Amino acid sequence: MAVLQARDISKSYGGVTALSNGTISVEAGSVHALLGENGAGKSTMVKVLSGTIRPDAGTLTLDGKPVAFNDTFDAVRHGVAVVSQELNLFPDLDVLANLYPVRKPLRGPFLDRRAMVEAAQPILASLGLDVDLRTLVRDLSLGQRQLVEIARALIAQPRVLVLDEPTSALDQDGSDRLLGILQVLRDRQVGVVFVSHILEEVMQLCDVITVLRDGQAVLEGADRSTLSIDDIVSAMLGPRPERETAPPPPSVSRGEQSRELRLDGVSVEGVMSEVDLRVSAGEIVGVAGLAGAGHLAVLELVAGLRRPAHGTVRLPGDRPVPRGLRRAIAAGVAVVSGDRRGRGLMLDQPIWENIGQVRAIGLSRDGVIVRRSVLRERARGHVERLRIRCRDIEQRTGLLSGGNQQKVVLAKWLDAAPAVLLLDDPTRGVDVGAKAEIHDLIRAAAADGAVVLLASTDVEELAMICHRVLVFHRGKVAARLSGDDLDQHAIVRISNTGERQ
Ligand SMILES: Nc1ncnc2c1ncn2[C@@H]1O[C@H](COP(=O)(O)OP(=O)(O)OP(=O)(O)O)[C@@H](O)[C@H]1O
Ligand SMILES: [Mg+2]
Repeated sequence: MAVLQARDISKSYGGVTALSNGTISVEAGSVHALLGENGAGKSTMVKVLSGTIRPDAGTLTLDGKPVAFNDTFDAVRHGVAVVSQELNLFPDLDVLANLYPVRKPLRGPFLDRRAMVEAAQPILASLGLDVDLRTLVRDLSLGQRQLVEIARALIAQPRVLVLDEPTSALDQDGSDRLLGILQVLRDRQVGVVFVSHILEEVMQLCDVITVLRDGQAVLEGADRSTLSIDDIVSAMLGPRPERETAPPPPSVSRGEQSRELRLDGVSVEGVMSEVDLRVSAGEIVGVAGLAGAGHLAVLELVAGLRRPAHGTVRLPGDRPVPRGLRRAIAAGVAVVSGDRRGRGLMLDQPIWENIGQVRAIGLSRDGVIVRRSVLRERARGHVERLRIRCRDIEQRTGLLSGGNQQKVVLAKWLDAAPAVLLLDDPTRGVDVGAKAEIHDLIRAAAADGAVVLLASTDVEELAMICHRVLVFHRGKVAARLSGDDLDQHAIVRISNTGERQ
């Protein structure tokens, strides 16, 4: 019998149907993948399972008996813990306080801080999270916050653990550790619900699969071993006109030095040393490496977020990089990050205002007043092209699903037609269909004359859309891959070993 079951769940927000008759049954000792496109209803289902929202219709049962959780704390008391997509931590409290939001160990009337630390330590170690427990959560990186939220759920020793895109903020090491932990929990008869857009990890980890499409389960508790990735993708996308296979990036005529991005002998103390790089307009160049390898510093240097200790960085047109992100943006540098906190969206504002924001700022600086009707019209085009799932462009951006918010970020930068496009994991949390369209848009931006620099934890993405990839190892460029040498295995191998062969 299912431990936890949500049956025939419906939920609408205004005119938008998030779930319609969706069902999921969680069994003990099994990992259940909950999949679907951006906006398909996954997070809404997670919120129903964890008591964050009440459905309009349908029933939730625990051990076969109807239940209604008042909130997530109540769910935890019933043995159901959730790791939400939009992290739910108290930024102004320290790590330890965040780990024990409800059930605090007591010694007499006092908090037993020592017992709290002792219980937390092995769990944090297993997740590979090495921070002082007195650190305030707001001082942690996104990945560390994600691990704190996972640790909090594990400390509660739930019978059912629900994780909404837990790996989208983690690096490879963090993801691997988490998948290992979930396997252990399964052996201990915990029921796990796992939401992810990374189908390889789903295939590796999960036992059963439910796919939501437009709020309905089109696959319900299907045995993973009977399905291929293609089967799952078809279920997610549904009948849709066949996409042509993506064209390779157009070749670039080199030369025209004035339109190059140039790094000459650039070093950043303790991060990278002696890096030379030239990227022409029209070229897509990838930077790869393990966490801390130094590749991300390239993006930070070009964005004006870091200054080199030695060497020079010149923007196209042989211009210096202005100090600070704002001025870099004014100089035509766009920074798209898949990091949820770094999105810089105005969540209370309508979608069209977010999409038009960068361009409007740029133009109004030149004394041009952009008519709202023009911004709206352009926004409509982006919404259609990127398939941003929304009621209309007047909708508050904060009401979009996570992946659709990411598409708005991309739209707003592309709308500004930047000279340099810096992309850091631009398709994190984005579904497979949208990913392919985003790749096309990146190619189109390059074809229009942008210099594109791409960092991605998705090596397949790097191998697929880049003309060249620089692989970093311990702060140095270990290899420059292009043509036949450029494939994902080479990227992974060199990132790990620093050796070409
Ligand atoms: N509070 C809300 N108000 C209005 N609409 C909402 C609200 N929450 C969700 N929606 C809408 O419900 C639909 C389902 O959203 P949900 O967050 O469940 O998608 P998801 O499958 O988790 O997508 P993603 O992969 O992007 O995270 C979306 O169209 C979303 O815009
Ligand atoms: Mg979601």
